[in-house]
Amino acid sequence: MQGSNFAKTMHSPFFSALALITSAAGLALAADVSNLSSCLKTASANVFPGLKEIAIDVWKNPEIGLDEHHAHNLVVDYFTHVRPGEWKVTPHAYGMPTAWKLEFEFRTPATPPNAKLPVIGFMAEYDALVGIGHACGHNQILLNGLAAASMTRQALIKLGIPARVVVIGTPDEENGAGKCQLQKTNAFKDADVWFMAHPTSANAIQPMNARINALTDFKAATHQEAVRKAYEALVAVRDLATGGLPGTSSSVVPVEEVGMFECNVVQGEISLGINGTSLETVQQIVSSILDTTYPGVSFTAAYDNDGGVNLTAIGPGGHASESTKGPLVLTIETFRALSSQDGISFYLPGNTTLGELGIIFDIRSRYTRDLNSVFDAVKAAVGTKADTIETDTVYPALEITPFLPGLFTNLVKTPDFGSQTWPISTFAPASTDAGCIQNAVVDPATHALVGADKVIFHPNFNICAPGGQCAFNHEPAFHDVAGTEYSYGQTEIVARALAYLAVELLNDPAMMANATAILGK
Ligand SMILES: *[C@@H]1O[C@H](CO)[C@@H](O)[C@H](O)[C@H]1NC(C)=O
Ligand SMILES: *[C@@H]1O[C@H](CO)[C@@H](O)[C@H](O)[C@H]1NC(C)=O
Ligand SMILES: *[C@@H]1O[C@H](CO)[C@@H](O)[C@H](O)[C@H]1NC(C)=O
Ligand SMILES: *[C@@H]1O[C@H](CO)[C@@H](O)[C@H](O)[C@H]1NC(C)=O
Ligand SMILES: *[C@@H]1O[C@H](CO)[C@@H](O)[C@H](O)[C@H]1NC(C)=O
Repeated sequence: MQGSNFAKTMHSPFFSALALITSAAGLALAADVSNLSSCLKTASANVFPGLKEIAIDVWKNPEIGLDEHHAHNLVVDYFTHVRPGEWKVTPHAYGMPTAWKLEFEFRTPATPPNAKLPVIGFMAEYDALVGIGHACGHNQILLNGLAAASMTRQALIKLGIPARVVVIGTPDEENGAGKCQLQKTNAFKDADVWFMAHPTSANAIQPMNARINALTDFKAATHQEAVRKAYEALVAVRDLATGGLPGTSSSVVPVEEVGMFECNVVQGEISLGINGTSLETVQQIVSSILDTTYPGVSFTAAYDNDGGVNLTAIGPGGHASESTKGPLVLTIETFRALSSQDGISFYLPGNTTLGELGIIFDIRSRYTRDLNSVFDAVKAAVGTKADTIETDTVYPALEITPFLPGLFTNLVKTPDFGSQTWPISTFAPASTDAGCIQNAVVDPATHALVGADKVIFHPNFNICAPGGQCAFNHEPAFHDVAGTEYSYGQTEIVARALAYLAVELLNDPAMMANATAILGK
């Protein structure tokens, strides 16, 4: 690991030489931050390599939500043993076994002892997806949070800015809404402004959708009847979705609870057994359905040992917010085409004993307030076919807070941050549990953000190298993208840009006031 000499020398008599002038009112004047960019480059050279090793280890050892013990221990051990004394380290924070907290506070000799210090928080995620590892790149979110906070810390010391920095490791972003659980314990009370950044296939500052899952279960006396009930519900929900859901940009994407599955990942392979018709008929029907509106989807069909035809649809998989036609849609449409014919039954190839099939309907909508009506519509479409229908934690929509996005886009345009274009967009590509922390209040008529509990700045950043491999989050190939040298380089730049804004905010009360103007309304 890199030595921590840089940081240690910072605690030298250096401060006594600092030109920290105290005004008549007893308030410290803002420090000169004209050298902030070069200061952060020095800090990055010091902290980034060691933190990158942690992120690579996490990428190589993916752990799903609430099971991130290795990732938790890597961070806790690093800041306890490799960089002792730099941060106050709290393992298993807020009663969550895989949450952690890092805290740092800096005061100069001129800081009045009772002065309330300005605070910035950073969030880190490190959970992976079932079966496809870090196909959402949360190893980079971990690295971004740790690196941005560490760079901020060193710059505060170097420039003599009294402030506090908090980092929270937030478990299970994908399914259990770890941040919503942490929020209930007041974990984010320390700071008004929280930073995070998410790797994806394009740079953009974007809102995120509201999300809820309808967890349904179909039971019957026979396996074949259970499969039929489930597929009838799948057809009804498809018709609902194509006919127009309530709300804005709403979507509903089904996931079959068979084999390895996860609510927010479109399955890459779905098998449906069809009994009572010929292989030729199945091939002909499927070929007539499968057109260019099914991107990358193909199928195989063959007689199997269960006495019918094993139709297996294969596709790229992907993100359950995309609502592209994947393998499951192809089997649903095949079911629709064949189900009314006499003597035909359906089953799960190789798994024909259980009289039960579970389906998760992954529901998204642009605004939180519309989520219930979309859920109600799905529930009505499923009707009495399901024996149970439950919901999981709501992920509220994340709205773009004004002020910081403009500062960020101007900053990353500069050569120090790779001269990058960073659009501010209204398109919501996915969902995040950070919506629970923001708790946005949106005008029902105009959808304008009118208030929030916290300022959450959450830019999405491109980790696909120009001309190199690319994929979208939750596609299996995104796992590879999230392990490239290019992706680590992009994370370094974004972390440094967030650190830049953090130091500016901590140094300038007027700027902090502008950033937090939306709060408490
Ligand atoms: C900023 O860096 C320049 C060049 O390294 C140096 O001359 C100047 O004194 C620095 N300013 C501050 C405020 O540290
Ligand atoms: C398929 O139909 C045949 C003939 O009725 C029956 O023997 C077999 O058990 C069925 N298989 C499945 C999986 O439904
Ligand atoms: C169904 O077909 C797919 C694709 O050929 C195959 O991978 C799978 O093992 C088959 N299932 C059974 C139970 O034979
Ligand atoms: C068999 O089906 C049941 C319910 O449909 C599911 O829970 C289970 O995972 C399946 N088993 C396999 C090996 O796919
Ligand atoms: C705060 O916002 C006001 C109004 O937009 C602007 O004039 C001022 O320059 C901002 N101050 C800082 C420090 O960003």
